[in-house]
Amino acid sequence: MTGTGQRYHGRVVAVTGAAQGLGLAMARRFAAEGARVALADVDGERLAAASAELRGSMAAAVDVTSAEQVDRWVALVRERLGPVDVLVNNAGVIRDGRVEQLDDAQWAAVVDVSLRGAFHCTRAVFAGMKERGYGRILSMSSMSWRGNFGQANYAAAKAGLIGMSRTIALEGAAHGITANVIAPGLIDTPMLASMKAPVREKLARRVPVGRVGRPEEIAEAAAFLCSEQAGYVTGVVLDVDGGIGLGISLR
Ligand SMILES: NC(=O)c1ccc[n+]([C@@H]2O[C@H](COP(=O)([O-])OP(=O)(O)OC[C@H]3O[C@@H](n4cnc5c(N)ncnc54)[C@H](O)[C@@H]3O)[C@@H](O)[C@H]2O)c1
Repeated sequence: MTGTGQRYHGRVVAVTGAAQGLGLAMARRFAAEGARVALADVDGERLAAASAELRGSMAAAVDVTSAEQVDRWVALVRERLGPVDVLVNNAGVIRDGRVEQLDDAQWAAVVDVSLRGAFHCTRAVFAGMKERGYGRILSMSSMSWRGNFGQANYAAAKAGLIGMSRTIALEGAAHGITANVIAPGLIDTPMLASMKAPVREKLARRVPVGRVGRPEEIAEAAAFLCSEQAGYVTGVVLDVDGGIGLGISLR
């Protein structure tokens, strides 16, 4: 891989939702830069297959909506790999529908995985990071945080992540901890593939750079934001979206 160094040598990086898509791409990148990666996903089988390729990694079946499972996972990572230096809150699901049709289960699934899950994981690692005076927390929002037709639940969760991260950035600032957010646009992952084809194609045509993004392009941004060198960057939302979040383009 080009453009990578060993910035993460000696670091323990924990990534949720790491069995596929962006989580797996980020885990690969952190591992390529020398990190020991701890992967968590609710789909334990797929995760085990994914982690087999990453030497020295640790895979665990974890549902981030359960505080108990998250606490157990973080304790196990500490035991096996060491304390978590970098946390990537990446797990997320979509359950789209217009607001008048969204049921409570669709609302809860999306908000619980993205937002409550990120809270559980952050809380589980934060005291340890504070004690050691070092930490990097990255959360995966979405361009939809600004609002997106048919995604009231998802937009609420993804906007919530931004408020949470900015607050964590304030609480962590004096302790060597940064908290940042990436807001991806349309990235080529199984989640994107699961969208209805006409919706996906319509959206893709609106990307100013003229194509959907690659998971590696999110990993590139993550590798910067979670690096030691980015210690002065905190509380930001980095759009990695080919310009789709810029506004109306009449191209
Ligand atoms: N792909 C995109 O275009 C895009 C755009 C914007 C934001 N995002 C966000 O990026 C993140 C990753 O997206 P992706 O496209 O790789 O999605 P994906 O569906 O391909 O992968 C998400 C992973 O999260 C896991 N997961 C789901 N619920 C979980 C839970 N309760 N506990 C632990 N793991 C759980 C899934 O099993 C899956 O492996 C998500 O938060 C998503 O909302 C993706």
